[in-house]
Amino acid sequence: MKIISSKDYNDMSKKIANIISAKVILKPDSVLGLATGSTPIGTYKKLIEWYNKGDIDFSSVCSVNLDEYCGLDKSHNQSYAYFMYNNFFKHININMENTYVPNGTNTDAPSECQLYEEIIDNLGGIDLQLLGIGHNGHIGFNEPSDCFIKDTHQVELSQKTVDANSKYFDNPKDMPKYAYTMGMGSIMKSKKIIVMVSGADKSDILKAMVTGPITPKLQGSILQLHPDVTIVADEAALSKF
Ligand code: GLP
Repeated sequence: MKIISSKDYNDMSKKIANIISAKVILKPDSVLGLATGSTPIGTYKKLIEWYNKGDIDFSSVCSVNLDEYCGLDKSHNQSYAYFMYNNFFKHININMENTYVPNGTNTDAPSECQLYEEIIDNLGGIDLQLLGIGHNGHIGFNEPSDCFIKDTHQVELSQKTVDANSKYFDNPKDMPKYAYTMGMGSIMKSKKIIVMVSGADKSDILKAMVTGPITPKLQGSILQLHPDVTIVADEAALSKF
């Protein structure tokens, strides 16, 4: 795993936006694997800024998102479809028909998960996957477990994740307990992976993910086996190295 150190959150965001921008310039019809959470917001802001300057064109790009809460419609302000539209897609010239997020309102979990895997395969796989990491090492919504799950699946969210994310809901009790997420196998098939990590509160989990044993108790640790992973982290997140 390659590690790129950045001064702070802003510097991290700029470096990651540069990497994504270079990818889209080199391959205008790139398939980007995108993430939600607070960490990528700065990266999306930079990309929007450069799009507005005319430096980057998303018209041929396709995107697939990692995950979505079960039960939330894309109009719900905490759904990841809503997040992507409002924080990124509506500000750039991506064709919305080329953007994919699992459908949280589909109650037929096996068919939704199979469909999502087919979407990724039909796009020819992911060229560049952007990943954040949860405080328990989760990737997408692949929570600590006894095994790694290969494909897109429905997952019961851990208490730690519910505690971390419920604060964003008007009523924290409305936070869904289940989500659809790409599996670690779907993610590991990506040609290139960028992991973004910011803040001292992620320093222990980042160190364990990179240098500790490969274990489903820390799902991100399997990224050690991927041939092209770059971690872009700020100094606070790298303070335990
Ligand atoms: C959520 C998302 C993950 C994300 C994680 C970290 O649970 N499902 O994809 O990486 O949160 O979020 P943050 O960047 O806000 O720390």
